[in-house]
Amino acid sequence: MIVAFLNHKGGVGKTTLALHVAGAWAAQGKRIVVVDTDSQGSALDWSEQRTKEGLPRLFDVLELVHDTLHAEASEIARDAHHVVIDGSSHSAALMRSAMLAADLALVPAQPSPFDGWAAGETLRLLQEAQRFRPQLTARFVLNRCVARSLIASEIAAVLAKHDPPALAARIGQRVAFGDAARTGRLVSEMPRSEPAAREVAALAAEIERIAR
Ligand SMILES: Nc1ncnc2c1ncn2[C@@H]1O[C@H](COP(=O)(O)OP(=O)(O)O)[C@@H](O)[C@H]1O
Ligand SMILES: [Mg+2]
Repeated sequence: MIVAFLNHKGGVGKTTLALHVAGAWAAQGKRIVVVDTDSQGSALDWSEQRTKEGLPRLFDVLELVHDTLHAEASEIARDAHHVVIDGSSHSAALMRSAMLAADLALVPAQPSPFDGWAAGETLRLLQEAQRFRPQLTARFVLNRCVARSLIASEIAAVLAKHDPPALAARIGQRVAFGDAARTGRLVSEMPRSEPAAREVAALAAEIERIAR
C-alpha cells in the first residue's frame, strides 16, 4: 500500500504521523519506505538524528522533492510492504503527484474550528485527483486532540460524517511526540509514553484495515 499524509497547512502532523505509522509497521517486521517530499526534509533530519544517536535504522527515508513521484512510486513500492509519503506543505504540484501515487490519502488536522477548514485547498485537490483515480481513498486523521475538550468532540462528530470522513483512531496532544522528534526517536522508544504509543499502534492498524 502507498499511503500519503497530505495537508497544505504546515505543523498539522504530516511528518510526525508518517514516521510513527511507518515505525509501527516496521516494528512488526514489515519493510517500509518513507518518502520525504518536503523541501525542509524533516523526515530525513529525523532519520539522520537517529543515526547520530546510534539508534538502529527502522526504515529507509528517501528524499523526493520533484513532482514525478507518481511515475516512480511503483518502483519504490516494489520491495516494500508499504510506502509512506510525508507530504509537502509548499508545493501543490508535489501534492498532486503524491495523490496520483497513493492508494490512501490521509489529511492530518487538529480538531480546532480553524484546522478543518484550512484543509479546504487540500480537499479540493483531492476531489480533482479522485476524478482521475476513483480508487484513491481519503480520510482525515485527527491529531493533537486534547482530552475532554468539548469543541474537539463536536468537531470529531462533524468530521465522522464528513466526506471524506475521519478515522476512528485519533492522536492526542502529547509532549512525547516533540521529545521523540528532537532525538530521532519514536514515542514507543521514549520513557513514559505508552498512551502515545498505543494511539499510534491503533492508527497503524486502522490504516491497514482500510486499505484491505
Ligand atoms: N500529537 C502531537 N502532540 C504533540 N506535538 C505534536 C503532535 N503532532 C505533531 N506535533 C508537533 O507539532 C510540530 C509540527 O508537526 P509536524 O509533524 O512537523 O507537522 P507537518 O509535517 O504537518 O508540518 C512538531 O514540532 C511536532 O513535534
Ligand atoms: Mg512535515
